Amino acid sequence: MNDLDSLVGSAQADFAAAATPAELENAKARFLGKSGRVTDLLKGLAALSPEEKKARGAEINQTKQRVEALLTERRQALAEADLQAQLKAEALDVTLPGRQKGTGGLHPVSRSIERIEAIFGSMGFDVADGPEIEEDWFNFTALNTPADHPARSMHDTFYVDTKAPDGSGQLLRTHTSPMQVRYAVKHVKAHRAAIDAGQAMPEIRVIAPGRTYRVDSDATHSPMFHQCEGLWIGENVSFKDLKSVFSDFFRTFFETDDLAIRFRPSFFPFTEPSAEVDIAFSSGPLKGRWLEVAGSGQVHPNVVRNFGLDPERYIGFAFGMGPDRLTMLRYGVNDLRLFFDGDLRFLSQFH
Ligand code: DAH
Repeated sequence: MNDLDSLVGSAQADFAAAATPAELENAKARFLGKSGRVTDLLKGLAALSPEEKKARGAEINQTKQRVEALLTERRQALAEADLQAQLKAEALDVTLPGRQKGTGGLHPVSRSIERIEAIFGSMGFDVADGPEIEEDWFNFTALNTPADHPARSMHDTFYVDTKAPDGSGQLLRTHTSPMQVRYAVKHVKAHRAAIDAGQAMPEIRVIAPGRTYRVDSDATHSPMFHQCEGLWIGENVSFKDLKSVFSDFFRTFFETDDLAIRFRPSFFPFTEPSAEVDIAFSSGPLKGRWLEVAGSGQVHPNVVRNFGLDPERYIGFAFGMGPDRLTMLRYGVNDLRLFFDGDLRFLSQFH
């Protein structure tokens, strides 16, 4: 083996030993770089005679080409190995089952609220929404609940430190009844001119579902719970209308005509007379049991006045029911807290 063959041999060995492109570039420099072995050979040509130079020069050039060919071959091999490693590292096993997205669904109470809105909507009721941090005035005072009323006690109300823009106190609303006032005041304002001119005001017919808060927690009470307020004010609205609205509503909501409704005299500061609404199913597991489902009554004249209306002319009724309770009855759930624990094992049964 002559010196040129052995140079090619050692280039091949060095290139093969280079495990990375950077190492290969270093090996290349040792042969083809400025002071590499091939370059040194070319420099050595200067000392030779013209004939020798020609023959030796041709040999060296050939050697250089062989080294370059080996270099290219090794470069490609390294690039290929790199690609294979990358493909292996990022391999997808297309036979694995896909990751499920998990289908969400509406919360059972949200389902009930949607149902309530749809049923009352079909009876001509608007749907209103209002603040959960409420002003003292809307939550209590405007609803004929004076400052010393027990409902204001620290025991059942979450007061907050912030103040309303007018400086009055704020709290987490204890019921949705303040929406009666908010909605009616707005409605009356919009029709003020007609009312003052003695023309008929379009009736107020609204429901206001939403979250409410009280310091209370057991199997049938949660510090956060839902209510749905209802208000119907006009010139000729009576308890008879209230009863027919409730009959229609509960029969549609529970999808049964086998249901009795009764009004039981009660007390609320903002209605007079007031009544609790009970229903009883005539079949099924709750057969024959009277179940309290709402509070209601004829809106108190003081409240009608706070709406900005003359109680001698405008009359109507209000009601407040509990979508949580209705959901429990509809699905046979016996602990209210299950709705708010956020346990998917429970919630996904309603999807
Ligand atoms: N706000 C009452 C409560 O939280 C429920 C209620 C009773 C609302 C009678 C009404 C009503 O509108 O007329 O217990």
